[in-house]
Amino acid sequence: MKNFKIKKQNPILFFMMSVVLVVFLTAAQTSKWSAPDAAKKVANPVASDANSIAEGKKIYVSDCQKCHGKKGLGDGPNASELDNPLEALNSAGMKAQTDGELFWKISEGKKPMPSAKKTLSETQRWQVLDYIRTLAK
Ligand code: HEC
Repeated sequence: MKNFKIKKQNPILFFMMSVVLVVFLTAAQTSKWSAPDAAKKVANPVASDANSIAEGKKIYVSDCQKCHGKKGLGDGPNASELDNPLEALNSAGMKAQTDGELFWKISEGKKPMPSAKKTLSETQRWQVLDYIRTLAK
């Protein structure tokens, strides 16, 4: 009868392990940085033109380049101090996101990336977005 007990426990153990695995994978999935749905729908009020791109570039060089690198490849001089390697700003993941979502991310920041809400005006945040979009072209 001893054997019977072990056999009966194995499926339970397997089930418990599966639950733990599913919970873990779900947690890993949701920890990916994403903006609230309402923010994703916000349209970019600053048309991407020579002026917005030029203004955006100035902001990028002074506030963003140290981490994200000259071409947005995640290789700025401060990038080596970050715990995780930066995703390039011309990645497929970036292209898949709306302007509203990226504007929200730039505004809010996420440690170690600083929030730009207090340092840049709304217009400036859209301009820097217009600029980083050109890095993907
Ligand atoms: C201190 C270094 C640092 C600075 C300065 C910085 N960032 Fe970031 N940035 C990060 C990190 C780290 C992430 C990734 C955050 C995460 O996903 O956990 C990130 C993510 C982003 C993302 C999202 C990328 C994606 O794939 O979703 C955008 C857009 C972005 N940064 C733009 C900017 C802009 C624009 C500036 C300047 C106004 C800036 N960053 C300044 C470190 C920095």
